[in-house]
Amino acid sequence: MKVLLIGSGGREHALAWKIAQSPLLDELYAAPGNPGIADHATLVALNVEDHAAIIAFAKEKAIDFVVVGPEAPLVAGLADDLRAAGIATFGPSKAAAQLEGSKGFTKDLCARYDIPTGAYQRFKTAEPARDYVRQQGAPIVIKADGLAAGKGVTVAMTEAEALAAIDDCFDGAFGAAGAEVVVEAFLDGEEASFFCLSDGKTALALATAQDHKRVGDGDTGPNTGGMGAYSPAPVMTPAMVERTMKEIIEPTISGMAKDGNPFSGVFFAGLMITAKGPELIEYNVRFGDPECQVLMMRLKSDLLPILHATATGTLDKVEAEWRDDAALTVVLASKGYPGAYDKNTPIAHIPEASEEAKVFHAGTALKDGGLVATGGRVLNVTALGKTVTEAQARAYALADKVEWENGFCRRDIGWQAVAREKA
Ligand code: AMP
Ligand code: GLY
Repeated sequence: MKVLLIGSGGREHALAWKIAQSPLLDELYAAPGNPGIADHATLVALNVEDHAAIIAFAKEKAIDFVVVGPEAPLVAGLADDLRAAGIATFGPSKAAAQLEGSKGFTKDLCARYDIPTGAYQRFKTAEPARDYVRQQGAPIVIKADGLAAGKGVTVAMTEAEALAAIDDCFDGAFGAAGAEVVVEAFLDGEEASFFCLSDGKTALALATAQDHKRVGDGDTGPNTGGMGAYSPAPVMTPAMVERTMKEIIEPTISGMAKDGNPFSGVFFAGLMITAKGPELIEYNVRFGDPECQVLMMRLKSDLLPILHATATGTLDKVEAEWRDDAALTVVLASKGYPGAYDKNTPIAHIPEASEEAKVFHAGTALKDGGLVATGGRVLNVTALGKTVTEAQARAYALADKVEWENGFCRRDIGWQAVAREKA
């Protein structure tokens, strides 16, 4: 099979690494890719926003299968355009990508199909939203409806904070994404991410993970795209997984199909495990980054036929096998992230991978023959272990061998799981 992978982050490096191990693979291309992905794929300098150029490239190289990593091209309809050109594609349609692209869309779906989630209202203007907040009281959650790079959510502990967040949204703090606002009940519990595949009819549970969104140790400081993650999430017991499939995932997949937007691809539910059980916080229509890195380390099965079955409506014919081991990833980021940071700082050394540990590239580039950091999140040091404690020790041992002066990482990724293992 000739495969084209779209994307350039740590998620796509993990996907490329795993796809490259498939006996079914003849050739792997990645657009635009990164220097880590270049170890497994031929990089192609395509503009991901130029769908016609991607289709032309796929035709020229007789690509059999395109795998789309990030959400932005999916929300822009890249998967629809590729499929319309007759190219098998892993990734949801633009209509189905609304599950991530519009929080209001997902909340309405939950309401229609009785999927457990916080009570909510949607608003197009500030005044009724403010009235609703006054009526409901704090704590309460204010969300920009559209994609806001993970920054559009305010968990307001006071009414004043909630009112300010509503004003921010309608004053344009998140651009078009904030033209509509969802006000949602605060859910109290432990969070987990639940990854699934669907071909539009069948849902296949993959694995669970927990990420660390805050930049600082002890889960403090501003939100980021994710500073580390581990899998599995201990809060997701087999009973909780079964409830999540029955109460949340299956009604979502059947509801999307009923509404004429069948979902094909990978998605993950952000869950809050409350006293009542699993409740949906949000959906994402792609692999998480860096959650994908820990999932790929734990996946025993060949990834390529699983992705292909998802894209071609035969998901009921495949299974995914997982290692019992835990995996943990630590993100090395540029000093200053998620605020401003220097670009093109040199990375002097990346240590060799082993069976149990590996460094994935995210925001790196080659400049004058040397490796430099170009992004906020730059490297993902990922390790396996019998326990999260062991995976954590291995990941930090490898991270400490990376020579990059402008880099930093959190030192406590996995702390809740490590504390549980000690207890
Ligand atoms: P989201 O971008 O929707 O994942 O929200 C970002 C973070 O805000 C989540 O990971 C949660 O920690 C928090 N959050 C979102 N919605 C709620 C809610 N209804 N109750 C409590 N926390 C929430
Ligand atoms: N790490 C969170 C995400 O990919 O959305």
